[in-house]
Amino acid sequence: MVKKVILDVDTGTDDAIALMIAALSPDLELVGATTVIGNVPCVVCTENTLRVFDHIGIQAPVHQGMVEPMVRPDFDRPEVSVIHGRFLPLPETNRKATSLKGVDWLIDTFMASDGDITLVPVGPLTNVAMALRKCPELVNKIPEMVIMGGAHHYGNRSASAEFNIWVDPEAAKVVVNSGVPIRMVPLDATHQALTSLDDCAKFREIGTPAAVAAASFAEQRIKGYNATQPMKIKDTTPVHDALAVCAVIDPSVIKTEFIHVDVETKGELTDGRTVCDFAKRSGKEPNVHFAMGVDSPKFKAMMFDILSRTT
Ligand code: BDR
Ligand code: CA
Repeated sequence: MVKKVILDVDTGTDDAIALMIAALSPDLELVGATTVIGNVPCVVCTENTLRVFDHIGIQAPVHQGMVEPMVRPDFDRPEVSVIHGRFLPLPETNRKATSLKGVDWLIDTFMASDGDITLVPVGPLTNVAMALRKCPELVNKIPEMVIMGGAHHYGNRSASAEFNIWVDPEAAKVVVNSGVPIRMVPLDATHQALTSLDDCAKFREIGTPAAVAAASFAEQRIKGYNATQPMKIKDTTPVHDALAVCAVIDPSVIKTEFIHVDVETKGELTDGRTVCDFAKRSGKEPNVHFAMGVDSPKFKAMMFDILSRTT
């Protein structure tokens, strides 16, 4: 059965690959995308998302969301990132984001749905938390969220925090405590499924617009990771957000544990940490299926297969 999905993105090189997978997978129907502050300013995320859709000939609507985190105006915003650049290296779009604001579109679309749309947030959780705050009944209309975010063993924005959660910890706290069923794809999983320069060569050999674009995004990421946070295997990169979308298509691509997760919002050193109760010490009920494992060959095979498709 084809699954309906909405992606909430801060596009971004790995968001771009995730969007192409969601748009081209025969197992998914991409209802639309919302954009949020994150890797680059929100207006740039919107332009980048539209560029990706134009590049592969997708008409799905794009709705611009929150341009600031919920409560932290002092967020140290990246204007240009070594891993994402600023604008993706694709032609400028002629399309515009729809005039309906991202948060309102999420509310209207889920409330009008049959409760059959999976939400896939792969950026900071500001839009999702705002929507849940504005419309608490939304909880009963979202069957599942598959979130790229969080980290148990090590962070990437700080020693403890993963970037998406670190940008807006208050929003992440609202979301994980919302009661919506959640699968979370943290760094612990994404860093075990690395894309290499050889994989990029294979994307180029496949030769479709999606695969060639994926090659150039992944090559840019590899340069950025080599320069800032080299992976254990030289010349490789995680493609975090793509793994979350693949986990919607085939849940067996990740291995999860059902645990209680909360988010640190007051830590001096640990702001934005996803606090994972693996040892069941909090006495709190599990709320998140947290991925600590990944089937890396399956993930790669899915990317090669899906990105070899055209619209
Ligand atoms: C996450 O942060 C962003 O930079 C990526 O797009 C991904 O969603 C990884 O920490
Ligand atoms: Ca992202």
